[in-house]
Amino acid sequence: MKTAFITGITGQDGAYLAEHLLNNGYRVIGGVRRSSAANTWRIEELGILDRVELVAFDLLDPHITSSIIRKYQPDEVYNLAAQSFVGTSFDQPAYTLKVDALGVVYLLEAIRTEKPDARFYQASTSEMFGLVQAVPQREDTPFYPRSPYGAAKLAAHWMTINYRESYDMYACSGILFNHESPLRGPEFVTRKITIGLAEVLEGREAPVQLGNMDAKRDWGFAGDYIKGMHLMLQQDKADEYVLSTGETYEVREFVTRAAQAIGFDAEWEGSEIDEKLRDKKTGKVIVEVNPEFFRPCEVDLLIGSPAKAEKNLGWKRDVSFAQLVTMMAEQDLERVRAGKPLYNAIG
Ligand code: NAP
Ligand code: GDD
Repeated sequence: MKTAFITGITGQDGAYLAEHLLNNGYRVIGGVRRSSAANTWRIEELGILDRVELVAFDLLDPHITSSIIRKYQPDEVYNLAAQSFVGTSFDQPAYTLKVDALGVVYLLEAIRTEKPDARFYQASTSEMFGLVQAVPQREDTPFYPRSPYGAAKLAAHWMTINYRESYDMYACSGILFNHESPLRGPEFVTRKITIGLAEVLEGREAPVQLGNMDAKRDWGFAGDYIKGMHLMLQQDKADEYVLSTGETYEVREFVTRAAQAIGFDAEWEGSEIDEKLRDKKTGKVIVEVNPEFFRPCEVDLLIGSPAKAEKNLGWKRDVSFAQLVTMMAEQDLERVRAGKPLYNAIG
């Protein structure tokens, strides 16, 4: 039985990855930050809370990191923990840099000293491409991060490569484009849209307020992407891989499709900060722009080429953009109708 240590097991990807590894016969150790409120709702929803071993962990504490690697001697380490919200990284740049870059160095050092043959996965990101230098973006496209988050992740990306080259460690970086699911954090735009529209359909007065709807993203399903992470650690040698769909859509398109999926018949009107989506049946505005959600610096376009992962790993995503939007919109409508908690968030 292989042992995997997952940091960020309480997050979207951590929960799906834990489920996937358990289904593949792994012992799963999950690092969890102490919190005054329960933060295990995702692994509870997947029904795996009693099948994973949760241990107290914080990326900013090198002592606990080393002692976990020493004690559990994991075969595979997946570093999914991060301050992952780009918007917050502008408000908390120093904290984001510590967690997303320095925290990764603590983990790499712990592996180097306590279990150097452990295989390591670093959650790198398409945010590193930022102001894109080529279309589509590939593993060899030059980086140009546009947020403290992107810059911190780029430092961690190069540290991962540096540990591989310096110490012959099996250290991989997955450059993952946006991936979403019904377990996505509610501050990210897709989930903010699907929760908000469901609430408006069920009687909420206030429209969904969004920032820049011109931004284009390459959105896939998280359940497909975690399989790629696992595959990256099963190869003969460590490498970098882009995981993406190869398609890109505006935020506005996600809104339109999510509204349709739950039965709205709505039309867009106005432009720029006066742009609105109005329900034709009731005449109510259901989506509007609030400049508060604009970012100081924006990533306008992301579209990745998954060709290398498809060729070398045999990875392929199963869920289309249309299926993803429908899945998220329908599940959030069900949650709202059932009165299930939706976990408030800033963003
Ligand atoms: P997420 O839902 O925001 O989960 C982040 C996880 O990190 C949570 O479990 C969180 O714990 C934990 N965490 C945050 N700070 C920590 C710290 N100081 N010490 C220990 N744990 C900490 O993110 P996700 O969407 O699953 O993404 C997983 C990883 O992939 C992240 O590194 C993200 O940056 C990266 N990534 C994501 C995407 C995407 O589209 N989803 C794309 C590319 C890369 P709490 O539950 O306590 O907050
Ligand atoms: N969150 C949010 N809220 N974003 C909005 C809003 C809003 O109200 N209105 C417009 N947007 C735009 C953002 O400006 C951005 O251009 C786009 O929607 C996507 O924003 P997010 O869903 O917050 O994701 P992200 O692309 O910034 O970052 C996600 O993907 C990265 C990979 O490219 C995160 O998961 C990162 O952790 C990940 O690395």
